[in-house]
Amino acid sequence: MTKVFVTRNWHPNAVKLLSKHFNVKVWDQPDIPSSEQIISSSQDCYAIFTEFDDKISSEIIESIPGLKVISNRAVGYENIDLRAAKKNNIKIGNTPGVLVESCADFTMGLMLDLARNITFSNRNVIDGKWVSFDQTPYLGTDVYQKHLAIIGLGQIATSVARRAVNGFNMEVSYWSRKRKPEIESELNLRYVNDINELVQNCDYLSIHCALTEDTYRIIDKEQFDLMKDVKLINTSRGPTINQNELLNAINNGNINSAALDVTDPEPPDYKSEIVGHPKILITPHLGSGSQETFNKMAQMAAENIINVFHNKNMISEVLID
Ligand code: DGY
Repeated sequence: MTKVFVTRNWHPNAVKLLSKHFNVKVWDQPDIPSSEQIISSSQDCYAIFTEFDDKISSEIIESIPGLKVISNRAVGYENIDLRAAKKNNIKIGNTPGVLVESCADFTMGLMLDLARNITFSNRNVIDGKWVSFDQTPYLGTDVYQKHLAIIGLGQIATSVARRAVNGFNMEVSYWSRKRKPEIESELNLRYVNDINELVQNCDYLSIHCALTEDTYRIIDKEQFDLMKDVKLINTSRGPTINQNELLNAINNGNINSAALDVTDPEPPDYKSEIVGHPKILITPHLGSGSQETFNKMAQMAAENIINVFHNKNMISEVLID
């Protein structure tokens, strides 16, 4: 029977679905599989079902004869060597769409948390520092009617903008590689052609662009230097911002605080300044992590494999130029 390797043991329903068509092998060790372990576990496999932090290099791709599909349970796919996949005629699947609303909810959660010092104050309560009624160490700012700037206007960012405009009456500006006039007029967004202009006129800045060569450190010293008391939220990929410059910007007041669901590297060294900093809230890459969305992404990743096996289109295929 045709074989499939699944690189985590988190997805019983997806494995059940795959098992109707394939002989499924699931990685069941506590540590994530190394490249060597992926290669040895995937020998003779038609497909591998991967997570976004499985580095699928050309070495892996070329060491699995018969591999036809890499199905990433993620919208991002920068973990996969696309050129090697194309050269070896391997199809790549991803899982956009189903995670949009969960990621947008999470982004708003981080924004509200920064605005009102929720985690910061909770840390102090845990440390026994709530000794009398005194809001003064924690006075935050409102979200309602403030100015949100967004970098990248894909599906997740659009859903964030919708929540911000309709739920919080915020003024929303955005920069994106491609201008989106329909969304602009639906939500009354302001397009700003120049990132430097965008970042100097906002209260909150939320990053949503995919990580590419062009967006690597799209927020760097030049941009931080222009910011004034901004609260920054990053749920895209860690390397879209220069983290050392973020620390400088927080320490010198250009940035008020930051919520990072993604870091560079990921996970960060837990002893590093960025982790212990009172003005930085770090969550462990949880944007899409609601139970419902976790399951939907796994189901979609499984269906992408099954569809290729039955000569149908994937629900979402990464097309390689
Ligand atoms: C994605 O889908 O790319 C997320 O960042 C991982 O869940």
